Amino acid sequence: MRTRRAALAAIAGAASLALTLSACGQSGEGGSKEEGGDTKGATIGIAMPTKSSERWIADGKNVVADLESKGYKTKLVYGEDDPDQQVSQIENLITQGVKALIVAAIDNKSMNNVLQQAADAKIPVISYDRLILGTKNVDYYASFDNEKVGELQGNYIVEKLGLKDGSKKGPFNVELFAGSNDDNNTRYFFGGAMKVLQPYIDKKQLVVRSKQTALNQVTTLRWDGGTAQKRMDDILTSAYKSERVDAVLSPYDGISIGILSALRSDDYGSKTKPWPIVTGQDAEVASVKSIIADEQSMTVYKDTRELAKVASNMVDAALNGKKPETNDTKTYDNGAKVVPAYLLTPVSVDKANYKKEVVDTGYIKESDLN
Ligand code: GAL
Repeated sequence: MRTRRAALAAIAGAASLALTLSACGQSGEGGSKEEGGDTKGATIGIAMPTKSSERWIADGKNVVADLESKGYKTKLVYGEDDPDQQVSQIENLITQGVKALIVAAIDNKSMNNVLQQAADAKIPVISYDRLILGTKNVDYYASFDNEKVGELQGNYIVEKLGLKDGSKKGPFNVELFAGSNDDNNTRYFFGGAMKVLQPYIDKKQLVVRSKQTALNQVTTLRWDGGTAQKRMDDILTSAYKSERVDAVLSPYDGISIGILSALRSDDYGSKTKPWPIVTGQDAEVASVKSIIADEQSMTVYKDTRELAKVASNMVDAALNGKKPETNDTKTYDNGAKVVPAYLLTPVSVDKANYKKEVVDTGYIKESDLN
């Protein structure tokens, strides 16, 4: 079977990350189409973490649509935030004969065995948004500049408090939240934010009254809003008897919504107690609505439609013996290797620019915000 042999050759080429495939290089676009003829119609496995957040639902849909537009078939699975379930889903995908995998991991360290199976079957693996750690069997990483996400959040706080331009000296009270400790992005988000906030904490212009400043004290398992709400409740009860909180660093919209609920129960958002600055990430509809209502202050918009395109282009290139496009080959060391990455740019969004950034770009329909 000529086609099957050629397909296997293309996959083997991809798996060894061949830098060039001379036949392909010589014949340019036309040649790549011919070459692709063998892998088109192949099935690509996509493992997403959870349907509990709208972004991952959209990510799944977008990746499927992009791959299908390139002629691939897809199998999309959601792990419902259970790492064991996700691992067995990926095992099933491999058994079902997928030719490449796109994985947004729930627990970044749980993938060693299953990705060895993928490597043995010569299946290229794209780490989607969250870097998979501790295995060399991850070929490419598609994500955003995750440290920048944290910097945007930290900067928003110091700018809006008037610390950045020196118009206010403080001290202001701030509380810190981070994402799930099993998500590699968490330390990048938190690191980026603390790079901005720490100098003001050192100068006592920002005060963390709970004294919870270390990453392991502020993480939120599985990014769960309810967990964050409970922690904010506890902090308000124990550290804010007479004081007021002026800002809350939140890494993700679902967590921000939990924090805002705790604040609301403590009378924030009333005439006597204005909302603190509360950051976020993902431009989820509930949070953009909250921003319009002057509750949540900002979010970090990441155009996940672009992320889906990057990931499916990586698959398409890898399966056709071409080198996927990357723009960062230094930052993302997963403990076993530095994973070549394509990083997109995150955008800070608040009430002043949400229309331009998320509505005019078609990311959210205006009617969904009413
Ligand atoms: C992170 C991702 C964020 C947010 C969070 C919770 O990995 O980078 O954008 O979606 O997970 O789902």
